[in-house]
Amino acid sequence: EKIKAFQTTLLTWYDREKRDLPWRKDHAPYHIWVSEIMLQQTQVQTVIPYYQRFMATFPTVADLATAPEGELLKAWAGLGYYSRVRNMQKAAQQIMDDYQGDWPQTAAELEKLAGIGPYTAGAIASIAFNEPVPAVDGNAFRVFARLFEIDADIAKPQTRQLFYNVIKEVIATDRPGDFNQAIMDLGSSYMTAKNPDSAHSPVRDFNQAYLDGKELDYPVKSKK
Ligand code: ADE
Repeated sequence: EKIKAFQTTLLTWYDREKRDLPWRKDHAPYHIWVSEIMLQQTQVQTVIPYYQRFMATFPTVADLATAPEGELLKAWAGLGYYSRVRNMQKAAQQIMDDYQGDWPQTAAELEKLAGIGPYTAGAIASIAFNEPVPAVDGNAFRVFARLFEIDADIAKPQTRQLFYNVIKEVIATDRPGDFNQAIMDLGSSYMTAKNPDSAHSPVRDFNQAYLDGKELDYPVKSKK
């Protein structure tokens, strides 16, 4: 039916066109986590060399847990928001001390770690551990709002749950990590905020807002 057709179309496109990114070479939770934290406030092309240097300097979560603060801040210099890397070290220490170095494997458990919110927890759980949970950042809000003409105001905190409920119905349970990453790739290619190219998008026929000529009306976001 329609959900299955959407999943197949999206994943077939992803298999063919996915971006070749250094954190997509394997599914190690450490790799996914570091990349997701870096990507929170920084563009993909800027993140790539930082990610590669970071992994060369701190190859494992154990290395990060024990790194001297100066080394840490040096590896982060230029990325900004230093609280991100300080929280990462705290989380690395939690993983070593509270979980004996074995990552918790569900989004609910991951959210207990320092600096890991619902988006990052969903990304790690789905990509590294195949848990069928959404990973909803600003791009995913936009993509799903357009696909399903979701009118809820994304500036309101309670709207996240509504999106979760919709995504839970359409996420590919056999490939949740690829599904979430395909949504990220759509959000940075055919379904961008200001200049979408929905006419050529692989999911054009599933994009209700586009089909109705209203895609720039989505997502709905009130001024705070
Ligand atoms: N933006 C946020 N997470 C990403 C990822 N895993 N791949 C590409 N872009 C992203």
